[in-house]
Amino acid sequence: MNNFIFQNPTKLVFGKGQINLLSELIPDDANLMITFGGGSVTKNGVYNQVIDALKGRNYIEFWGIEPNPHVETIRKAVKQGKDNNIDFLLAVGGGSVLDGTKLIAAGIASEEDSWDIVLKGHADKQIHYASVLTLPATGSEMNTAAVITRSETQEKFGFGGFYPQFSILDPEVTYSLPPHQIACGLADTFTHVLEQYLTTPNQSKIMDRWAEGVLQTVKEIAPDIISGNRNYELMAEFMLSATLALNDFIRMGVTQDWSTHMIGHELTAIHGLTHAHTLAIVMPSTMRVLKHQKHGKLLQFGERVFDITEGSEQERIDKTIEATEEFYRSLGLTTRLSEEGIGNETIEKIVKRFNERNASYGENSNVTGAVAREILVSSL
Ligand code: NZQ
Ligand code: ZN
Repeated sequence: MNNFIFQNPTKLVFGKGQINLLSELIPDDANLMITFGGGSVTKNGVYNQVIDALKGRNYIEFWGIEPNPHVETIRKAVKQGKDNNIDFLLAVGGGSVLDGTKLIAAGIASEEDSWDIVLKGHADKQIHYASVLTLPATGSEMNTAAVITRSETQEKFGFGGFYPQFSILDPEVTYSLPPHQIACGLADTFTHVLEQYLTTPNQSKIMDRWAEGVLQTVKEIAPDIISGNRNYELMAEFMLSATLALNDFIRMGVTQDWSTHMIGHELTAIHGLTHAHTLAIVMPSTMRVLKHQKHGKLLQFGERVFDITEGSEQERIDKTIEATEEFYRSLGLTTRLSEEGIGNETIEKIVKRFNERNASYGENSNVTGAVAREILVSSL
C-alpha cells in the first residue's frame, strides 16, 4: 500500500425530507447564491422544497448551468456573484450544476479567468459551497473534482479544488430522472470504481473488497432500477453507491487509471455524447487493449463480481470483458462508436489532441495518443 493522507470533510445529509435542514446547515450570515440547471427542479418539486426550507433568508438565484457545464456560462455566474458579494453557493442539481458551481466558487475567490483555473488543474481558493444532489452518478457531491467544457473550442477538462461543506441526498428526488440519465448514472458509478480498481493486483485487500462491494451492489440493483422500479430503498442504495464510488474512500494507497474518462471526455467534447455513455463505449475497449497489463485484476474482477471461474485464464479474461460490455448494454446503452456514427475522423482528432498535450494516462502512464487510437479502433 502506498503512503496517503485522507481527509474528506463533506457532511453527508442523507434521506427523505432532509432538504428541510438547509436553513440549519447554511450559516445565518451567509450571502447566498443558489445555482440551478435547466429547470428539472421546478417540475419535480425540488425547487419548492429548497425555497420553503430557506424562507426568510436572503439569496439570489442563478439559472442555466447546462449539462457538461460551459465556462462561458460560469463566467456570467462569477460576475453576478462578485457584483453581489456572494460568499456561499448552494448547487441544486446533478453533477453538472455541482461542477459548474465549484468553478463559480473558485472564480469568485480569485481574479483569474475561469478557464485559466481549469487549465491550471486546481483552484487555490474557493468560497464555501454545498449541494442538494438530484442525480446519482458523478460523486461530485463529496469530492473536489469538476469537469468543465469550453464550447467555443470543444474542449473538456477537469480541475480540483476543495470539498463541498455539505451535500443533501434525498433518494426521492431521483424518481423523476429520465431512463437515459438513470442508465448513465449506473454506468458512471460502475466505471468510477473500475478506474480505481482495475489496475495492478495485490496493492490492498481492503480497498479491493470495498471496490468490489460497490461493483456488486450496482450490478445487483441495476436490473430492478432499469425495469422502472422507483422504490425508496432501491434508489437509496443507488444514490449512496454513486457517492461512495468517487469520494476517495476506495482509493486509499492504491494506483488509479482514469484513461477511459480522459478518452470519454473527448467524445463528449466533440460529439456531445452523455458522459457515462462514452464510458460504456470506451471501458470495454480499454480492457481489450490493456488486457495483458490488467491481467491479474481482470481475473479477480471476473471471479468476484461476475462469478467467472471456468476455463483458462485467457478465456476467463475474455468472458469478463464480454460480461462488462453486456452489463453496459443491459442498462440500455450502446457500447460501440459505430453505433453512434462515430468513426476514424474523430479517432484521429483525439489522437492528435493527445499527442499535442503529450498525454500519458493510466496507472502505468502508457495511454498515449497511439494507445488511445488502439482503444478507439477496438470500439468501432
Ligand atoms: O439541467 P436540469 O434541468 O436540472 O436537468 C438535468 C440534465 O438535463 C437532468 N436532471 C438532473 N436531476 C434530475 C434531472 N431530471 C429529472 N429529475 C432529476 N432529479 O439530468 C440531465 C443531466 O444532468 P447532469 O448534471 O449533466 O448529469 P450528471 O450528474 O451525470 O453530470 C455529468 C457531468 O459531470 C461530470 C461529467 O463529465 C459531466 O460534465 N463528471 C464529474 C465528476 C466529478 N465532479 O467528480 C466525475 C465524473 O466522472 C464526470 O466526469
Ligand atoms: Zn464519470
